[in-house]
Amino acid sequence: MSLGGVTSHKARTVPFLRSLVKHSRTPVHAFEEASDRASGALVRLNMGPFRPYLVTHPDHVQHVLKGNQPNYLRAGMFWDPLAPLLGQGILSEGEGWAASRKILQPVFTARYVNSLTSRMAQIVTGLIDAIVVPGRRFDVAEVVSALIHPTIVRLFLGATISDDDINRLAPAYDTGVTARSIRLLLPSVPERFPLLGDRAFRQAIKTIDEVVYPRIRYAKARGGAEADLVSRLVSARRDEPDADRLIRDDMVAIHGAATETSVTALTWVWPVLDAHPEIAARVYEEVDRVVGRGPVTVAHLPELTYLKMFMDELVRLYPPGWILPRTAAGADQIDGVEIPAGATMVLSPYLTHRLPEFWDRPLEFDPERFAPGNDRARHRYAYFPFAAGPHVCLGPHLFMMEALLLIAGILCKYRPVLHTTGPITPRLASTLRPPTGLSMTLVPAGRA
Ligand code: HEM
Repeated sequence: MSLGGVTSHKARTVPFLRSLVKHSRTPVHAFEEASDRASGALVRLNMGPFRPYLVTHPDHVQHVLKGNQPNYLRAGMFWDPLAPLLGQGILSEGEGWAASRKILQPVFTARYVNSLTSRMAQIVTGLIDAIVVPGRRFDVAEVVSALIHPTIVRLFLGATISDDDINRLAPAYDTGVTARSIRLLLPSVPERFPLLGDRAFRQAIKTIDEVVYPRIRYAKARGGAEADLVSRLVSARRDEPDADRLIRDDMVAIHGAATETSVTALTWVWPVLDAHPEIAARVYEEVDRVVGRGPVTVAHLPELTYLKMFMDELVRLYPPGWILPRTAAGADQIDGVEIPAGATMVLSPYLTHRLPEFWDRPLEFDPERFAPGNDRARHRYAYFPFAAGPHVCLGPHLFMMEALLLIAGILCKYRPVLHTTGPITPRLASTLRPPTGLSMTLVPAGRA
């Protein structure tokens, strides 16, 4: 077959189902095996009748996310079940997405995010003081979530939101993104046929709407004058007829995009520090030197340069958004490989970030890769923890501020003692999570 004058061929298919069975307890290893077999080539994963295309080579990633991006839609089996939750805005496609992106892009400037940071520092520091009991063992993911979730909710939905409402949102989101997993396995079942989880999903949306709509009305009553995100959106959409629903869709989508990813990344920090004592010692030395015994403030952030490199490396080896699925709208050709219309494309920062062809010692955790200037020889699309192209994440700067404040806020007072030993194998969920049940104690820094 020839498209645009270039001879093309069908993609090679690599075994996948067998690997999944072999690694049923650690399916991430099945993806790693498939990527090893592909060695950067565009291949199909043999999952029986369903054979998605695995895209790992940075040139191919660039083609899908940037070069021919309009052909690769965030639609299909991975996205459609979530559409009633995420709505028609920034996490959709087409006109609704474009209109939201136009409004949100200028909101998420470094200037606006920096203006949120001192408020964020106060909230995070206050929560650490309220939640951490030195010497008491706790579940890492639970405590990180208890620190991040209220921080993001207050910054986005306003300082006056009640604790009660904050506490209703977290479980509702959790249900919202997980309740319909069964539809992933049964993509051909139409929406009108009810499946297990649908009711819980609808209830979760109702709860979220019951919290979010009153916050929109509250921001409107104040003329959109406050600094929080909902007020910014109220001002930006002042003259639009369907403004409330559009603001709701964007608030819900951004909240979803911001919390789960941040919580996951900040949960990984602790097992990674534990596994690399020399790197941990450099992080502790930097926090001691820059922040002392705290509290951490916005002024400290530019000086936490090693901690920032540590986080860049953390989201290389453990990118929360480990899979970016797309559906090909029309036929295409990538590097000579035929892509038929309707094909499911699976991009994976996790796999691309570990390709030996593009990374020296790919499995070694080494923050020096991100020292200034060390990225010069790197392919621009070998590293894309925040995606790339028109759908690139809006939150990297906010995330980094939040990460530095939380980690330095804890380390200026405490040292972590992890109670879990042995290899920490990532768990595949909507994000790349560490194993469940990681437990840890924080001991006062002087006595560690
Ligand atoms: C570790 C933290 C985060 C990671 C790894 C991450 C990663 C990503 C990725 C991979 C995408 C692209 C998804 C796709 O198109 O398939 C994305 C999109 C997005 N992210 Fe993030 N994100 C993080 C934090 C945040 C935060 C804090 C915000 C808050 C504003 C945010 C807001 C968004 C939005 C609005 C989009 C959709 C952009 C668009 O489609 O135009 N993210 N993020």
